[in-house]
Amino acid sequence: MLRSLLLLLLLPLAAFAQPADTRQLLPVPAQVSWGKASLAPRALLKPQLDGPEDAQLRAAVGRTLDRLHRNGTAAANALPLQIRYGKLGRMELFDEERYSLRVTPNGVTIDAPTSLGVLRALATLEQLPQGDAKRSYLPEVEIQDQPRFPWRGLLIDPARHFMPVSVIKRNLDAMAAVKLNVLHWHLSDDQGFRVESKVLPKLHQVGGANGYYTQEQVREVLQYAQARGIRVIPEFDVPGHATAWLAAYPELASNDSTYGVSPRWGVLNIAMDPTKESTYELLDKLFAEMTALFPDPYFHIGGDENDGRQWRRNPRIAQYMRERGMVKRDGAVDKHALQTAFNRRVLTMLTKYEKRMVGWDEILGPGLPADAVIQSWRGKKGLYEAAKAGHQAILSNGYYIDLYLTAASHYAPDPIPADAPLTDEEKKRILGGEATMWSEFADSVIYDSRVWPRTAAVAERLWSPATVTNVPDMYRRLGAVSVQLEGLGLQHRRAPEQLLAMMAAGYDVAPLRTLANALEPVKEYKRHFQGFKYTTQTPLNRLVDAAPAESEAVRQFGATLDSLLAYPRALITQLPHTPETRRQLARLRTQLKQWQQNDAKVQPLLQTNASLREYAPLSTQLTVVSTLMLQRLEQLEKGKPASAEWLAAAQKQLEQAKKPAGQTELPLAEVVRKAITR
Ligand code: ACM
Repeated sequence: MLRSLLLLLLLPLAAFAQPADTRQLLPVPAQVSWGKASLAPRALLKPQLDGPEDAQLRAAVGRTLDRLHRNGTAAANALPLQIRYGKLGRMELFDEERYSLRVTPNGVTIDAPTSLGVLRALATLEQLPQGDAKRSYLPEVEIQDQPRFPWRGLLIDPARHFMPVSVIKRNLDAMAAVKLNVLHWHLSDDQGFRVESKVLPKLHQVGGANGYYTQEQVREVLQYAQARGIRVIPEFDVPGHATAWLAAYPELASNDSTYGVSPRWGVLNIAMDPTKESTYELLDKLFAEMTALFPDPYFHIGGDENDGRQWRRNPRIAQYMRERGMVKRDGAVDKHALQTAFNRRVLTMLTKYEKRMVGWDEILGPGLPADAVIQSWRGKKGLYEAAKAGHQAILSNGYYIDLYLTAASHYAPDPIPADAPLTDEEKKRILGGEATMWSEFADSVIYDSRVWPRTAAVAERLWSPATVTNVPDMYRRLGAVSVQLEGLGLQHRRAPEQLLAMMAAGYDVAPLRTLANALEPVKEYKRHFQGFKYTTQTPLNRLVDAAPAESEAVRQFGATLDSLLAYPRALITQLPHTPETRRQLARLRTQLKQWQQNDAKVQPLLQTNASLREYAPLSTQLTVVSTLMLQRLEQLEKGKPASAEWLAAAQKQLEQAKKPAGQTELPLAEVVRKAITR
């Protein structure tokens, strides 16, 4: 009696603490209702499309059925996959992506106002299978779904490291799988100009000497994207980040220097001369060509990171600014005013070509026409200011996936949090957001591994209701998506594994894998400042390049440890000995022992060459930190508090273990430090 009363009391609490059962769906749909039945495990599906005929949509349906191994197009006994849609949707017109999807034992039904909704429903359908590969089934379910934001992007940067078409295409497949719908294609920067220009051919011949897309290839990508309901926004970054242009057309420069395409990283503050008519004539020529090549009505002109030093230092340009009153209150010339004048000229050109100009938040300021769109990267402030000033706006701050931060850290930022200081009208101007993957440290081989699966967390933030914020459940589904993407041809798991196999050079790869998977590259842009000189020519094939941006092994370890230490009594005396704590302890110990013993196994390989030897100290530290944590677990289990001496020594060792090597660090050191000092 008492027991059942207790259970009764606990039940609502348990139900509340459980994450919603969304199975493997990522992003989580607006409404899901799971049934108990399922579609027969081996039943084939025969598509019946009811809407305007479209070969691309038919092909998309075929792809989904093939991936589900249920293509019953030619089978007599197949169950119906009934697809009804009102019209062909176009992402560039912000057409609706809403859909409903229903699976019953008798078949599958999709209803959507547009073909875009059908594409999103197919992406959901591909994430539905339950069970193992041998007995996979489609569960009974009813889903009503629609995106929270219409602009859900990924920036791909083939300027820093060139990315062949195959890389772009497989990333488009991944984007479609998690319902991202904007490819922001960063096509020019200091290190490269990446599109063939027929009117200004030196741009790709000189600026893109080590890789560019032919216009034919661009069209191929555009078609591939469109077939997946993804729009493509090209970016031609001006007036800064444009050294590759200056290498091709030196007359664009703001001084008498001549430039080559930059082999260096960093903010160069080299800019075009905005005072010369010839600059605009050249830009107009290129934009006439590129606005025709890229059909989307939005067109990105960059505008970031030009501090104006070259303008201030050129007496002729400084004079130009003075003559036009481009001076600040203190009398100094005002770079921002000159750049705004430049932006206005560019905007006029783009308007002539029926495009809406998008730029990074630096372009925001007095004098910028309201129909310019602002992409906010330096903070939320720019996003809100832009929306208040009447601009459409896109959030990227918080979604910089090139910083090696956790999926959870990218999952948290919301373009319109509950406390956003905006009116409803202003909120409508916030179109959504974009994950940005700058490629200083990602070449075409490892690019996928820097983008996926973390970008899926951003995709969920931009698609799902704002209330979907359960981090452990996000990680659970992220694991499933990661496997799904590998099946679609993404290389995010294979490529690091291949790097490790090459580095192992005949030795057993397992201990090297254990080490690599316990490391992470140093965060943010610290990799530039660790005493190792990177240029565009530096091979990205060291252990740091195989190390995950977020170590899944350490994250899982930390999650188990957190749930163990969440027992209140653990703080004071000792852990309760329940089956669950025993399981958790066993799991933690198994992992710690693997890490502890790894150093002896991997050192012989690390000592074979200089580029591996760099990581030898961290391998040793992995043993040290694991040993400390094993000791700590024993203290907890036995209820013996640590002595002050032990604590002091442990803290000292952990400080030591946090020192980076080979531009990587040991995330376990911080996890253990927290566990020891709590
Ligand atoms: C940027 O990251 N410079 C837009």
